[in-house]
Amino acid sequence: MTYRVIPVEPFDYVVFGGTGDLARRKLLPALYHRMLDGQIPEESRIVAVSRRKMTDDEYRAMTEEALREFVQPDAGSAEVMQKFLQMLSYRSLDAKADEGWDELCNELGDSNERVRAFYLAVGPDLFDDICRRLGRHCLVTENSRVVIEKPVGRDLASAREVNDAVATAFSESQIFRIDHYLGKETVQNLMALRFANTLFEPLWNSAHIDHVQITVAETLGVGSRGEYYDTSGALRDMMQNHLTQLLCLVAMEPPDVFDANSVRDEKLKVIRALKPIDEDNYERLTVRGQYRAGASDGGAVPGYVEELASGKSRTETFVALKAEVANWRWAGVPFYLRTGKRLAERVSEIVITFRAIPHSIFPRDSGVISQNRLVLRLQPDEGVKQWIMIKDPGPGGMRLNYVPLDMSFAESFEERYPDAYERLLLDVIRGNQTLFMRRDEVEAAWAWIDPIREAWDKDGSAPAAYTAGTWGPSAAIALIERDGRTWHEDTIR
Ligand code: BG6
Repeated sequence: MTYRVIPVEPFDYVVFGGTGDLARRKLLPALYHRMLDGQIPEESRIVAVSRRKMTDDEYRAMTEEALREFVQPDAGSAEVMQKFLQMLSYRSLDAKADEGWDELCNELGDSNERVRAFYLAVGPDLFDDICRRLGRHCLVTENSRVVIEKPVGRDLASAREVNDAVATAFSESQIFRIDHYLGKETVQNLMALRFANTLFEPLWNSAHIDHVQITVAETLGVGSRGEYYDTSGALRDMMQNHLTQLLCLVAMEPPDVFDANSVRDEKLKVIRALKPIDEDNYERLTVRGQYRAGASDGGAVPGYVEELASGKSRTETFVALKAEVANWRWAGVPFYLRTGKRLAERVSEIVITFRAIPHSIFPRDSGVISQNRLVLRLQPDEGVKQWIMIKDPGPGGMRLNYVPLDMSFAESFEERYPDAYERLLLDVIRGNQTLFMRRDEVEAAWAWIDPIREAWDKDGSAPAAYTAGTWGPSAAIALIERDGRTWHEDTIR
């Protein structure tokens, strides 16, 4: 692959939460990789902000250690590493106090042209304080942007509060609500497949598609994130954002052009067309689970509650839903969505299953004719497989076989696969909001999710237990099998 690297103008990235996990594991490695590829000019600056007291040199040492841990060992030269480290500086600031902000302002200078991006890699409870202080201390220039990490709220009401708080200092065109799933290569490829080919779009509707499955399965448990996770659960942590966004990209109408507002307008229409799931139908359409001790990644692992300090919880670590987009294109086509921690495999994929053939002309002993499937694998082993029926080669009569037309990106394109954050962090600098969520989208997604949560809360029962290292509670299997279908991994992989 000859990928195109278009350098950006020098910029300033101010990372709140600069010593945190996200900065160390994702943001700094992503910027480093972009620098290695020659996309970031060395006059750019990265200012890390956090409450801890630390000197610039101590922060550089911490970053170097993080890069050694999270970037492939042979990535780059000592020279690039030194240049990258020299771009970094550190500032200790308390989001809830006024000291130090004017100094940050002086450090950044008063250039209106230079792009200035504030990345809020902190809990949403600090968004309000930070944005108000950025505004009050004149840090927000015409060319400033702010990036906010999920969760944007924990329900519709709190999402509105978060959005209002951020809007005190930034206009909507300056706000980048990140959903890193949109930066994944296969997700963008879904748009290329749909809208840069004539092959799929005529079939992309209820007349030809039987159902859609979206799975985001993780083998990891919640580990040290228990404190946050236990107040969230899989519905809020994954379903409201990542899976709903994937569903939107599968189901949306072709936008007029591939730009931020056209794409987001179409996604919003999909979210608004989702049939409500509430106390009248949640028992039929939802499943929630919580892992108990089992085996994962080749070893014994504790159950969810054992990982928590409190030792008890009713938070779900698994959720499966049967959703439907109630519009002309999709009415009657089920979208089965599931996500969970400590499942049998780490795999994220979108599976489009086409309708069965109306009539077989082949004798029974030719073999079973399976439905065509288009499988978009987000991770690991990114790629697309189109499962089709063919004749087995050679003599012996007509023997039919189900095989994949396989397009593994890693094999086809030899380059390293960029992490989602690399693309998204630079989109912020370029001012391209296409792969970021607009306020109305986030709020519409909460409006769809909230009644599910309310129905569960009212029900009051505990999530179904599943053993770590399995595919979730048996009720999730029943959810799809009731309709005479199976989850993708049960049949072919
Ligand atoms: C995050 C969730 O948004 O996505 C985590 O908060 C989850 O709980 C993560 O583990 C999954 O991302 P990825 O890119 O590893 O699939």
